[in-house]
Amino acid sequence: MKFFVDTADVAAITELNDLGMVDGVTTNPSLIKKSGRDILEVTREICELVDGPVSAEVIALKSDDMIAEGRKLAEIAENIAVKVPLTWDGLKACKVLSDEGRMVNVTLCFSANQALLAAKAGATFISPFIGRLDDLNIDGMELIADIREIYDNYGFETQILAASIRTANHMSEAAKIGADVATAPPNVIHAMASHVLTDKGLDAFVKDAKDAGIKIV
Ligand code: G3P
Repeated sequence: MKFFVDTADVAAITELNDLGMVDGVTTNPSLIKKSGRDILEVTREICELVDGPVSAEVIALKSDDMIAEGRKLAEIAENIAVKVPLTWDGLKACKVLSDEGRMVNVTLCFSANQALLAAKAGATFISPFIGRLDDLNIDGMELIADIREIYDNYGFETQILAASIRTANHMSEAAKIGADVATAPPNVIHAMASHVLTDKGLDAFVKDAKDAGIKIV
């Protein structure tokens, strides 16, 4: 499973990228707002940093305007994936932009039917939002499994990009189901390294090393 980082925080992306943890980046208007940066400027900086796809989201609601914004975003760098919402206009924009050879990430997906339409419209990525479904007591992971089954039934090449990931468990569950990509905030990727037994075991090793006077360098 590829790891995308769901942030526009350049410092956080750099740290994870240096560790080889970053296969791509996803942003959205809320994350751009949080960064306090200009969308074109910060997106360009991220694209220079990361080799993989960098999703940049349109803000228009009508397909023609989305297409114009998508083309402008795609000019930033070759690794831009234009992010469009899963509305009828978004699907139209997806079809036009993907026919032009651009990567398109269709976002705000909450049902298997929506994912089916995005694949038919030529989406490179479909972004089902796990956490926001969980918030409503609907099992977000079930949606990932349903989309996996449907895409595999028909050989759709659209990649399942598990999004709205809130916990480290979401990452391993998405990987077990076979999501192609998971995009997670930096704190979730950090949390994947934590285990209480690792901390406990390390405390004991540190104590024993000290008691025994072990020195290596
Ligand atoms: O990738 C989509 C993501 O940014 C949404 O996450 O936590 O706002 O539902 P969240």
